Amino acid sequence: MRELIEKYKKEVLAFKSKDKVETDKFRIKFMSKNGVLNELFSKFKEIDASEKKEIGLLINSLKNTINSKIKQPEKLNKNENKVNLTDFTLPSNNENIGSLHPLTIVENKIINIFRLLGFNLETGPEIEDDWHNFTALNMPDNHPARDMQDTFFIKKSPDQLLRTHTSSVQIRFMENNSPPIRIISPGRVFRNEAISARSHCLFHQIEGLAIDENINFSDLKLIIQEFVNQLFGENKKIRFRPSFFPFTEPSAEVDIYWGLNSEADKRITKGTGWLEIMGCGMVDPNVLDNVKIDKTKFSGYAFGMGIERIAMLLYQIDDIRLFYENDIRFLKQFQSSHIF
Ligand code: PHE
Repeated sequence: MRELIEKYKKEVLAFKSKDKVETDKFRIKFMSKNGVLNELFSKFKEIDASEKKEIGLLINSLKNTINSKIKQPEKLNKNENKVNLTDFTLPSNNENIGSLHPLTIVENKIINIFRLLGFNLETGPEIEDDWHNFTALNMPDNHPARDMQDTFFIKKSPDQLLRTHTSSVQIRFMENNSPPIRIISPGRVFRNEAISARSHCLFHQIEGLAIDENINFSDLKLIIQEFVNQLFGENKKIRFRPSFFPFTEPSAEVDIYWGLNSEADKRITKGTGWLEIMGCGMVDPNVLDNVKIDKTKFSGYAFGMGIERIAMLLYQIDDIRLFYENDIRFLKQFQSSHIF
């Protein structure tokens, strides 16, 4: 019996199928009702009990080898069929197409507008030190303006904190580069604020900075007007409202005229029709001193805005928390938005 199994095993191992017809013949010879395997199994019943274990193993191993020989060419055949049946003119199956996050879409739009206006992209670390986030930005220790930004402190020494705004990137860039400077820097910022529909402890800002000879407030106004035209459409009215930031002097907040056409307009503009979109101003000479740029020769402007705020306006989203929940029903709505 052992010799017989060996003989079949050799035959099976040597078998190479050229096509489906041959494989079928092979399968019938070994696996059909009157085939080799069944013949062996019926002989198996008659053999001595002491041999059963060993012979059983041999038959099983032969069966596995036969199966593997039969399966391989079938796989090939299946693929062949597929190729033959593929119609390359059929539309693709787009069911599960992904989408960019709305914040990414808006960030890309803003970056691209400023890129065309001559600004370069710069980024900085999210874990900052006191110097870059506060002191160099004209907020020395105990400055009351530090209270405006509820800070997440990480360590006292060496001091580490989560940056509360992207203005820290200005400092890093000015420390290592000399004017003319024109940069735009997007990034995540963190503030220890209660989470609500309007505010979150994590959000995104985008910062702009330009330093050169003879830069004045009218340059800033021109750039902001051009930016608003491109993002919100031509002829949007804007206004500069006097404000305060420690690192700019004079400082302003920029409002755009949103209108009072609907109930929602009235609600989001608090009945005024105007909406605040960013902070800006002329870089305070103290800041230039801190980064060793000659304030008698150079001047500049800076501006900063919240990306969530802009995205909420553009897409009429009324709850900031939607951005971070990753609810697929929310994200799916941005599938068709172009990237720019
Ligand atoms: N950093 C300011 C903020 O977070 C925004 C700003 C940037 C204001 C640049 C003026 C100039 O509120």
